[in-house]
Formats: sequence, structure tokens, C-alpha cells
Amino acid sequence: MRGSKGSAVAAPLWAIAAMAAVVGTVTAFGVGPDPRAPGSEATPEAARQEQILRGRQLVLEHGCGGCHGGWDNPGAEGFLAGVTSPAQEFLIGPCAWEPGAEPCFRTRPRNLTPHPTTGMGRFSERQIFNSLRYGLRPGETADVEITSSTPGEGNFPMFPKYLAPPMPWAAWRHMPDEDLWAIAAYLKDGLKPVDNLVEDSEGPPDFWVSNYTEEAYGTYPLPPFPTANEQEPPASANREQVLRGRHLVVQHGCGDCHGGLTNPAAPAFLAGVTAPVQVFPVGPCLVDPEAPCFMMRPRNLTPHSTTGIGRWTDRQLFNALRHGLRPAGYPDRVITADNHPDNPDLLAPGMVWVEKRHMSDDDLWAIIAYLRHGLKPVENEVEESDRPAEGWGGTYVDLGVGTYPAVPFPTANEVGG
Ligand code: HEC
Ligand code: HEC
Repeated sequence: MRGSKGSAVAAPLWAIAAMAAVVGTVTAFGVGPDPRAPGSEATPEAARQEQILRGRQLVLEHGCGGCHGGWDNPGAEGFLAGVTSPAQEFLIGPCAWEPGAEPCFRTRPRNLTPHPTTGMGRFSERQIFNSLRYGLRPGETADVEITSSTPGEGNFPMFPKYLAPPMPWAAWRHMPDEDLWAIAAYLKDGLKPVDNLVEDSEGPPDFWVSNYTEEAYGTYPLPPFPTANEQEPPASANREQVLRGRHLVVQHGCGDCHGGLTNPAAPAFLAGVTAPVQVFPVGPCLVDPEAPCFMMRPRNLTPHSTTGIGRWTDRQLFNALRHGLRPAGYPDRVITADNHPDNPDLLAPGMVWVEKRHMSDDDLWAIIAYLRHGLKPVENEVEESDRPAEGWGGTYVDLGVGTYPAVPFPTANEVGG
């Protein structure tokens, strides 16, 4: 569940993303002199183009389209255009499990295209940056540089108005500055404007202030390594890689589902389902209450030898994140176009591998190094998630999750090049 602690999310959570082979595409742009030519400086335009492409990559690997529209497919209709069907809305609160229960808030992913009156055209890049770093709603927060997270100090509003769950800003805020600016650049200048006015989200009178506690979501910046859940890696491991993996795990919100949200100091961080609230449904029941549901049980990612990832090799974990191959079902081997299994037994759409597969090899190996060497093992047996008898393969086709690697930039929804 990508919701807040004690709330649940009942809407398609098959958050997906993708990214292009950016390094390969940047040089294809005919903007200014070739930045690689000896003695030539990258022109501002070329640098801006590169920033936009970096932003696209980040948008895809963080699965913004899983909620804001179009999954990980920049060519899909409605890509990042916000809610266009009620199925994209979320129910936050006990009503997510129990129809009619209170409180109940309907929240709606917004139009991220640069449309001047219904999208990001209303905001500066700095307002977008502030929404991703501090969770401040751009429509209700002044366009100023913020230098503190304490209400009333350093331009941080005295009465902050936070973005509603399940917008994962508490994870996104841990991205480096240049990544957040790159996302803002892509939303403003890499996308064509789409006119789509999204109805405002509902929320409590305190605009979620009491929801986003440090206890639940942890601190920004992260607490020092290691917390009580973590351990110094053995001398045989690469400590720098482990620490980078830790940062990536938090930035990518793995704990939003696998436990502990974005707080490496939280009890049972990444230990998998330890409370019923972490089990969430995906499937047709989200739009039709009579239709079947599949219950998702995020698994134990700590290196415990019989209940966690201690059972799998690094390669099996890599294949899970890049190819969606269930580690229990596939041996340790390098997957190529020739030996990629037909009708593979894939991880469920509730596991956002379709977005994570677009991360670079280096990033995936860093995450695996952290899970293996940076976490203490926790014994916690998690029951298997439900899955359809025919497996999940067909579902991914129906969802239109896009390709890996992603379609080249620009698609019909994008501008640039
Ligand atoms: C799990 C669902 C989800 C994901 C994934 C997600 N968002 Fe959101 N986002 C939301 C919701 C819901 C809102 C509306 C919040 C509100 O109304 O307060 C929102 C609001 C926003 C806003 C504020 C827009 C406005 O007009 O107020 C921005 C900016 C934004 N998201 C950017 C992103 C970016 C960039 C990503 C990917 C890095 C992303 N979101 C991923 C659910 C999501
Ligand atoms: C939106 C919820 C969600 C997020 C975010 C998420 N996962 Fe998962 N993950 C799941 C679910 C659900 C499963 C079980 C899927 C199944 O059984 O088919 C799972 C399974 C896995 C598995 C397979 C483990 C096993 O023992 O079979 C790995 C590895 C994994 N996740 C790693 C990660 C990493 C790393 C991240 C962050 C980069 C992450 N997950 C983010 C929901 C999530």
C-alpha cells in the first residue's frame, strides 16, 4: 500500500513506470553544437534538453504515471494528465476496506502536464520542486525558496498544506536536488499541455499535518546509518554501494509497501507484512465490488535465511526487479532475449517491478547490496500473494504498461528534440 499509516488505498495501484536509455538518446538531439565535440561547451539548450530527459527517466522509474495516468508508457493517451476516470481516484481512511466507514477522503492525482489553467502551467519550477521536497501543495504555497522544514522558519509556511496521500512525496523528497529540478523541467517543458481539470482532493481540516509524522515517515535527511534495523556491511561488501542502495530504497518508497514507510528506523522496516493494514487488493474489484480481488502481501526483504531474501541469490533478485520473475520460481541465471521464459510466472502488479525495471543495472545492484548486507535479518514468514490461475502475464498486456526500454523521446505527448 502506498498510502499513509492507518489508511488504505483502494484504487488501481499497479503503479508503473519506465525510462529511456537516456545516455543513448541525448546525443540524438540537433540542439546547438555537438556537446561532445572537442573544445565546445554544451549550449544552454542542450543542457536543458539533457535535464528534461533525466526528468523523464526519473518520472518513469518512480512510476508517476501509475497514479497520474498512462502507466510507464509516455506514448499512452492521458500520460500524466491526471484523473480521467473514477478508477484513478483513491479512498483514504477506513472506508477503503469497509464501505461507509468514516472518515473517508477521496483524493485525486492531478494533471502534471504544463497546461496553463489546469496543469503545471500555473506553477513555477520552484513550486514543483517545493511540492516534491517538502510535500507542500503548489496551489496553496508561495513561490519562494525554502530553507527550513520548521513551520514559520526559513520561508516554510506557518500552516503548511500538504499533498494528500497516497502522493509519495515523503519518498520523493529524498531524491537529490538536481533530480527534483529535472522532474520539474520535464513536467514544464518536456510534455505537451493537456486540458484536464481534476477535481480537488478531499482532506481533513489540518491538511494532513497529523498524518505526516516523523515517527511514521522518518526524518529528512535520513537518520545516520546504521539504525537499529540495520548493520554495518561485512568487509567483503562495498560499503559505498550499500549506502547508495539504502538511499535508493527510501527514494523509491519500497517501505511504503514492504514496511516502515520511508523511515529506516521504524519497527519492521522492510520486513514485509506484519499487520493486516499492509495487505491490499488489486484487480477488477477495485472498480466493480462484485468482481474478484487478489490480495497482495508485500514480502520480507530482510536477509533472513528462511523467510526473507536470504533464500535467493543476488541474480534472482535482479531478475525479479528487472524482469518481474518470481524468485521462488526461477533459478540463478542471466536472462537474455533467448532464454527469457515464455508465459513467465511474474510478480503481481501490486509489486511495482514494471517501473523499477527501468532503473539502471548499477541502481538495482546497489539496492540488492543494501538488502543483503545493510539490513539485519528479521524472521517473518509472509503468506504468498493471491494470483490468477493463468498467472499475471495477460494482465500486464491489458494494462498497457509500456515497453522496456521505454519508447523513444519524444512521443505524441511530449515536446523536444
Ligand atoms: C501512489 C499515487 C501517486 C504517485 C505514484 C505519484 N503521485 Fe503525485 N499525486 C498523487 C495524488 C493523490 C495527488 C493529489 C494530492 C492532493 O490533492 O493534495 C498528487 C499530486 C501531485 C502534485 C501536486 C499537483 C497540484 O496541482 O497540486 C505533483 C506536482 C505531483 N503529484 C507530482 C508527482 C510526481 C513527479 C510523481 C512521480 C515522481 C508522482 N506525483 C507520483 C498521487 C501520486
Ligand atoms: C506498491 C507496493 C510495493 C512497492 C512500492 C514495492 N513492492 Fe516489492 N512487492 C510488493 C508485493 C505485493 C510483492 C509480492 C508480489 C507477489 O507475490 O507476486 C512484492 C515482492 C517483492 C519481491 C519478491 C520477493 C520474494 O521473496 O518473492 C522483491 C525482491 C521486492 N518486492 C522488492 C522491492 C523493492 C526493492 C522495492 C523498492 C524499489 C519494492 N519491492 C517496492 C509490493 C511492493
